[in-house]
Amino acid sequence: MILFRHSLPALFLTASLAGAVDFKKDIQPILEKNCYECHSEKAKKRKGGFVFDDLETFKLDIADTDVAQIRPGKPGESHFLEVIVNEGHKNHMPPNDTLSRGDINKITDWIKEGATFDGTSQTASATTASAPKKQLPPIMSWTNSEGKTIKAGFVRLDGESVVLRMPANGQEVPYPLAKLNAASQQQAKDAGAP
Ligand code: HEC
Repeated sequence: MILFRHSLPALFLTASLAGAVDFKKDIQPILEKNCYECHSEKAKKRKGGFVFDDLETFKLDIADTDVAQIRPGKPGESHFLEVIVNEGHKNHMPPNDTLSRGDINKITDWIKEGATFDGTSQTASATTASAPKKQLPPIMSWTNSEGKTIKAGFVRLDGESVVLRMPANGQEVPYPLAKLNAASQQQAKDAGAP
C-alpha cells in the first residue's frame, strides 16, 4: 500500500529549504560581534531596551504585530532590519558602523524564513535525507474567521483543532478549526489528510 503522507508539506518544505539560515551558527555570531556590546545581559547593557543574547527576552521583539521589531517572514516590515540597512536612519545600528552586505543578507534571509532560534537548523539537516523525521513543518498563512492572518507551520489535526507551530518560538498551539475561514480549514484538512 502506498502512503501519501505529508505530500503537501513536503512540497513546501523543499521550496523553502534552499538557503536555510541557522540562528546559532549564522546570526548569533553577527549580533555578538556587532551588537552585544550595547545590547546584552553579558555586558549588562540594554540600550533602547533591547537585549539580544538572552533569547527569552529577544523573543519578545519577534512577532507578527505592528510594534514588534522583527516580523517573521516580513523583512520589509521589520524595524530591526530597517535600522541596520538604512544608514540615514536616526537610530542606524550599529551606531558607528555598518554591517557587511553578507551579514545583512543573512539577517534578511533569517527573518524571511521565520526568524526562529532553533527551527532552521533542524530543517537544514533534513536536506541530508538521513534525518527525514526531523523536518519541521513549513510556514503557511492561516486566516481566521475575523480575517486576521498568522504565519505558522502545520503540525497535525487534533480533533476539532489544528495544531500550529509558531515560527517565533517553536511553540505548538492548538487552534479551533471552526475559528478559521473556509480556505484555511481546507488547508488544514489537506495538510492533515492521511
Ligand atoms: C555602541 C552601542 C550600540 C551598538 C554597538 C548597537 N546598538 Fe542598537 N541601540 C543603541 C542605542 C543607544 C539605542 C537607543 C537609540 C534611541 O532610542 O535613541 C539602540 C537602539 C536599537 C534599536 C531600536 C531602534 C529604534 O529605532 O527604536 C534596535 C532595533 C537596535 N538598537 C539594534 C541593534 C543591532 C541589531 C545592533 C548590531 C548590529 C546594534 N543595535 C548595535 C546602541 C547600540
